[in-house]
Amino acid sequence: MFTVDEISVRYDQKITLQNFSFSVEKGEILSIIGPNGSGKSTLLKAISGFTPYYEGVVQLEGINIKSMKSKQIAQKMCMLSQKNQAPPDMTVKDLVSYGRYPHKKWFERLDEEDMEIVEWAIRKTYLTAYQDRTVASLSGGESQRAWIAMALAQRPKILLLDEPTTYLDIAHQHEVLELVRELNQEMGMTVLMVLHDLNQASQYSDRIVVVQSGEKAMAGTPKEVMTQEMIRNVYRMDSEIQYRPTEIKPRIHLLKKVN
Ligand SMILES: Nc1ncnc2c1ncn2[C@@H]1O[C@H](COP(=O)(O)OP(=O)(O)O)[C@@H](O)[C@H]1O
Ligand SMILES: [Mg+2]
Repeated sequence: MFTVDEISVRYDQKITLQNFSFSVEKGEILSIIGPNGSGKSTLLKAISGFTPYYEGVVQLEGINIKSMKSKQIAQKMCMLSQKNQAPPDMTVKDLVSYGRYPHKKWFERLDEEDMEIVEWAIRKTYLTAYQDRTVASLSGGESQRAWIAMALAQRPKILLLDEPTTYLDIAHQHEVLELVRELNQEMGMTVLMVLHDLNQASQYSDRIVVVQSGEKAMAGTPKEVMTQEMIRNVYRMDSEIQYRPTEIKPRIHLLKKVN
């Protein structure tokens, strides 16, 4: 459904992503992991058109993204970056309504069907009681849900999330990832997300791509990727990998830094 073929990104003169290739299958959850500064956010930004790449091709359903208008892309793909900021007086409902605009002509107002979709997105993210509050007044978890609701109102086929759990406590991290899984399973939404917690990546992903210094270090199922060797090479940590009897996804215990 989505292929990234040999893309390279340079900031100033520094090569930040080099000949990076992978593909995302329809209906899967694919996570990108890797150390800080390895190029994960750059990868997501390049894919979604925020950062130019000087080499390579990104295709969405067989069409080169560079030949698509930004509105066409927004009808199919939505990206939430690490830090999303709404204007101070914007309410949850306003924010979620924005998700509908890629589907409208510039002079067109939202109609009844749009408002039904907006209400559905608010319900789906358990924000009905908060819809008239300003986004700025919400807690971290509520605010993250409001942005996901905006993305949902856009009805994208593919959702790109850059560290959707980073500023949340563990209960809210769980809540957001369960929501992502629900959207994937119930609506068949394809998800590409950057996670930094190895166990979350293992538990919630069908496949994982590992980024190291701007290159793809590894890709595969959680079982294939989460090995002591990968964690030692990429994160310089010793670890133990555990399989519970009824689970196919590995659990990772980080032990200590490799000297
Ligand atoms: N706008 C930018 N201008 C210059 N360098 C940047 C810019 N954005 C990111 N970088 C650099 O590119 C590298 C990769 O960054 P990033 O993709 O944000 O990594 P990650 O998300 O994996 O932590 C880092 O060295 C970072 O400093
Ligand atoms: Mg990042």
